[in-house]
Amino acid sequence: MDLAVKKNFKILSGEIEIPPDKSLSHRAIIFSVLANGKSVIKNFSRGQDPHSSLAICKQLGADIIQDNQTVIVNSTGILKKPNWALYCGNSGTTMRLMAGVLSGQNFDSVLTGDESLSKRPMKRIIEPLSLMGANICADNFHAPLNIKGRQLKGIIYDAKIASAQVKSCILLAGLFTDGVTKYKEIYPSRNHTEIMLKNMGANIYNDNDYICIEKSELKPFEINICGDISSAAYFIVAGLIVPNSRIILKNIGLNPTRSGIIEVVKQMGGDIEILDQRDVCGEVVGDVKIEYSPEMRGIEISGEIIPALIDELPVITLLATQCDGQTVVKDAQDLRNKESDRIKTTVCELQKLGANIEETPDGMIINGKTPLNGGVETDSYKDHRLAMTLYVAGLICKKEISIKDFEWVNISFPEFLELVEKLK
Ligand code: S3P
Repeated sequence: MDLAVKKNFKILSGEIEIPPDKSLSHRAIIFSVLANGKSVIKNFSRGQDPHSSLAICKQLGADIIQDNQTVIVNSTGILKKPNWALYCGNSGTTMRLMAGVLSGQNFDSVLTGDESLSKRPMKRIIEPLSLMGANICADNFHAPLNIKGRQLKGIIYDAKIASAQVKSCILLAGLFTDGVTKYKEIYPSRNHTEIMLKNMGANIYNDNDYICIEKSELKPFEINICGDISSAAYFIVAGLIVPNSRIILKNIGLNPTRSGIIEVVKQMGGDIEILDQRDVCGEVVGDVKIEYSPEMRGIEISGEIIPALIDELPVITLLATQCDGQTVVKDAQDLRNKESDRIKTTVCELQKLGANIEETPDGMIINGKTPLNGGVETDSYKDHRLAMTLYVAGLICKKEISIKDFEWVNISFPEFLELVEKLK
């Protein structure tokens, strides 16, 4: 479905609740199936990706009942051999986390994905899992992954890339080993897995620079999932660039390993404020107030902060086009391995709109501030984050734009258009 977006002449104003976090939803459903007993997940995501994880958990024998966005999981903690291949759809998190779980089972399984997921690199998990003794066959390190379940052994692993999916995969595999699994990151990536597993009673702890995990009996749990900062990002940027806007986003997860966008907006001189910061199930949560900020300036975004805003980089790039001076994004080469090559696709589509932006091997250079002209057809490349970035761009383009395959927003944020309308 192509969507037309027109310049928004009115201000964006009001208070909205941002839908539940995708990363937490994946983890809550997968981990609850590994626990013996009844777990309750409140405010589970409506996105297609977490529902890929949920469908797989059902195939693995868990009794899962959904009542609107509350999910009740009854499990024995012991997985059943699936009768057919486990389809992960578009979801890298589902495939990489499940590969960690399934490698240590006493049955074989196959993980498959859609066209985009089947092109994404799996060597990053197959290599360390193989060191643990896993047996995974994959053509050229791409899905489908044929996993022969077996007893795994603990390893000491120094990660080569900052990836929460790889870390979570190895920590989950570590639950099914004899001995200790130790994992060292190059930069801190999102730590939801560590927080949630600890809350479930897992034997997980830090030892110097290593995160360590041992075989553990997980306790069932109850969790209320907070709003997704990666979804909030589109409204943060819209509020900053659509003239005279003022938006309050309620109940946003502000875990420091995820909230790099807040730091970047502050450095750029944007008007952003955190209200009512609190703790919910071990995660930092708060409300975020944003006001139109016409005098923002370009900055360098590189190094340690990259994993804390990796999914927000397309929309941060759009924001940089509205900042005075140069913004340089570096150390973000892994953006090329997402649902699309997000360096190429973001640069190409924002250039079409009139932005002054160029691609580099590990990021991009944006020179602002440039008015966005629009009047063109743009492509989401079936990438949900690009579709929403282009929508926000369309709100400030002089002429209408169209966005190809806009319905891919449903991967993470089916409520997106409804919430935009509430603010208009
Ligand atoms: C995720 C980790 C990140 C992120 C993805 C979700 C997670 O991927 O881009 O959308 O839930 O662990 P990488 O681990 O590949 O960086």
